[in-house]
Amino acid sequence: MNERKFNVIVAGATGAVGTQMLTCLEEQEFPVNNFKLLASSRSAGKKIKFKGETFVVEEMTKDSFKGYDIALFSAGGSTSLKFAPASAEAGCVVVDNSSAWRMDPKIPLVVPEVNPEAIAQYKNKGIIANPNCSTIQMVVALNPIYKNFGIKRLVISTYQSVSGTGVKAVNELREQTKAFVEGRSPVAEVYPHPIAFNVLPHIDSFLDSGYSKEEEKMINETRKIFNDQSIRITATAARVPVFNSHSESVNIETHKHATCEQIRDLLKTAHGIKVLDDPQNNVYPLALDAHGSDLTFVGRIRQDLSIENGIDIWIVSDNIRKGAATNTVQIGKLLAENYL
Ligand code: A2P
Repeated sequence: MNERKFNVIVAGATGAVGTQMLTCLEEQEFPVNNFKLLASSRSAGKKIKFKGETFVVEEMTKDSFKGYDIALFSAGGSTSLKFAPASAEAGCVVVDNSSAWRMDPKIPLVVPEVNPEAIAQYKNKGIIANPNCSTIQMVVALNPIYKNFGIKRLVISTYQSVSGTGVKAVNELREQTKAFVEGRSPVAEVYPHPIAFNVLPHIDSFLDSGYSKEEEKMINETRKIFNDQSIRITATAARVPVFNSHSESVNIETHKHATCEQIRDLLKTAHGIKVLDDPQNNVYPLALDAHGSDLTFVGRIRQDLSIENGIDIWIVSDNIRKGAATNTVQIGKLLAENYL
């Protein structure tokens, strides 16, 4: 790493992911020179601490970006569509956490453990996209398997926490849980049904195909990150009454035969992964344990006895950290170190 420091913006700094980005910038010792926090006019004037210094949040405008090198965006899709091009135009490269740019063929979609080389394509439009939270943790776990055995087909079921929806959803789960316990009727505002003591097979809106957008994102983004349109993928995404960390069951059909031992050994040495796989002693990845960690936890590794080359795994990760803020800051750091 050279000694250069960078002028950095966090856009959407008052949100759930934006707040976590500030922590990740500190933890990853990002070499920051000038620093600016942006949000909507609602939050302008708010004070936020970063590295012991107090910064005043400014309203994001198209003139916010001049003189800055990198803008980490987590301010929603429409805000990103409106402001990211202005940032890129001003020479400030955007790393965007929304879904707005992910499937643009000219914009790289990056998970540093999987396709860091794609960052070089930032030159096309001055924007790099951060994938969907449930996709990030899955491809981190799948990458060593993909590289060594090839992947023919994936059958995915997700069990996703409410923090991915935002602070309102976290509060709704808390309130509904209290209501149930106290014998009151739960009020559902964020989701179409109560989430407490329930499971909703519904994340994002539904498409004509019958899949939800979240399911479609997992399918398309996984193929884009591996740069392999031949992988056959189906997914069911469900919201569960968990505050934070997504869990996933993934059935993998490989091209070459793999034993569980081979998969376990590969994952144990892979960067960013921790294998927790001793079910006889109740050891497997859990949402509560993953909370606050940047690692992707993998367990329940077993042979799928119904097909020749099948493996089942259980993947858990903190969706606000590795699924969003951590991955965005990692991309920003690689960009700064290698390209700016
Ligand atoms: P604000 O707090 O002013 O609304 P979350 O994903 O947790 O809902 O956070 C979204 C983030 O994006 C917040 O920081 C929010 O700022 C910011 N944001 C939302 N709309 C805009 C906008 N039009 N311009 C700038 N920032 C926005």
